[in-house]
Amino acid sequence: MDKPLKLGLLGFGTVGTGVYRILQRNRAVISARAGVGFEIAKILVRDLNKPRAVEVDRSILTADPREVLDDPEIAIVVELIGGLEPAYQYIREALSKGKHVVTANKAVIATYGARLIRLAAENGADLYYEGAVGGGIPIIKPLRESLVGNRIEEVMGIVNGTTNYILTKMTREKADFAAVLAEAQALGYAEADPSADVEGFDAAHKLVILASLAFQKPISVSQVYREGVSKITQEDIAFAEHFGYTIKLLAIGKRHPQGIEVRVHPTFIPSRHPLASVHGVFNAIYVRGDAVGELMFYGRGAGDLPTGSAVVADIVDVLRNCRQGTHHRVETLWEDVPVLSIDDVRTRYYIRLHAVDKPGVLAQVAANFGAEGVSIESMVQQGRGEGQPVPIVFITHDVEERRLRASLARIATLPVVKDIANVIRVEGGGR
Ligand SMILES: NC(=O)c1ccc[n+]([C@@H]2O[C@H](COP(=O)([O-])OP(=O)(O)OC[C@H]3O[C@@H](n4cnc5c(N)ncnc54)[C@H](OP(=O)(O)O)[C@@H]3O)[C@@H](O)[C@H]2O)c1
Repeated sequence: MDKPLKLGLLGFGTVGTGVYRILQRNRAVISARAGVGFEIAKILVRDLNKPRAVEVDRSILTADPREVLDDPEIAIVVELIGGLEPAYQYIREALSKGKHVVTANKAVIATYGARLIRLAAENGADLYYEGAVGGGIPIIKPLRESLVGNRIEEVMGIVNGTTNYILTKMTREKADFAAVLAEAQALGYAEADPSADVEGFDAAHKLVILASLAFQKPISVSQVYREGVSKITQEDIAFAEHFGYTIKLLAIGKRHPQGIEVRVHPTFIPSRHPLASVHGVFNAIYVRGDAVGELMFYGRGAGDLPTGSAVVADIVDVLRNCRQGTHHRVETLWEDVPVLSIDDVRTRYYIRLHAVDKPGVLAQVAANFGAEGVSIESMVQQGRGEGQPVPIVFITHDVEERRLRASLARIATLPVVKDIANVIRVEGGGR
């Protein structure tokens, strides 16, 4: 076997220690499969004195990034620090020096992915990032390699475990959002500042990575339409069930002849859709290709060993490439397709409003939908209000978002309408 290749790890937290564990535990089989040995030469940390979750030779720990980045013997840099800086600078420097990079950093890849892919190509280096989306689920490699013969039409995922846990609990236990969030925080499933998860920012980063690969178009986070889950109530969950749907925070990318749509928001999906049965902290990504049809990738979207599994697979890919003397084996091509505004998206909608319960109210609301070309598929009015506002729920047929909004602007001004409590987009047919 050839001389072992040297790895430098940047970061030794949850994922870093997971990667270390897998590389130690399965060292022989990993080397045999890669066809080349490897050695973890250095591990960059912030605090050298911190207790570590694994037994490690303390002499390979360093707090100086130069010991990794300036070491010509280190061929592969594994970035597991997280956040944009200094991770981005380190990745850039490593690639510029012709070092291969494996990362699980969704923020860096979502923000600078296209630039880094170019930089890697210019320097004959590899850049792999399977761990950045869906934790242990293989999805980047399928999109880059296994499905290369397809035109991907749709990629749709539950890519944030925290919000899926919250929505699952709200659905099963009829608990309110605030109570479930507090419990998730106590259990360590949600951060003290939960906005990155709850408001959909994390899912938007992951969608950027998925959609850029699926549609071969560099997409920026600012082009993703985003809404979080904090407005979902028990009423919405009950109405969803009534109509045969489940509410999930979905990251949705679709290709249309006129462009691509990228959006993250709570969604009614038919309860028989494969994504509806993804519960708790699990993640899943549904892909539709013109040749392969429908695919679903399911598994643990986070955690030390699951994410470590994805990172180690990337490391093995790089080791194999090194052994073969081939790099930048997978071409990333970019197409010039526009990203559609949310106003142009056509979908169905659930609308829950409160209106005074008296004759003629429904006709007034329906007339205002009709005036903007919004047609109604289903409607439910609950209870008798005796002059008081009662909930009325509509599910529309497919309509452009701008028309839906125009109709709701009209409806909101009707004296009989107290409020428009929630509007949620609907995917697929019900039941
Ligand atoms: N956790 C997951 O389940 C998961 C899943 C998928 C993807 N990811 C991604 O994996 C990456 C790592 O996440 P993680 O959860 O493992 O993070 P983490 O537990 O916070 O670990 C971060 C590590 O980086 C080190 N570090 C932080 N800032 C540094 C700096 N300026 N200089 C040197 N070292 C620094 C820390 O050192 P000290 O140990 O000394 O503090 C720590 O070892 C992130 O990009 C994350 O998005 C994580």
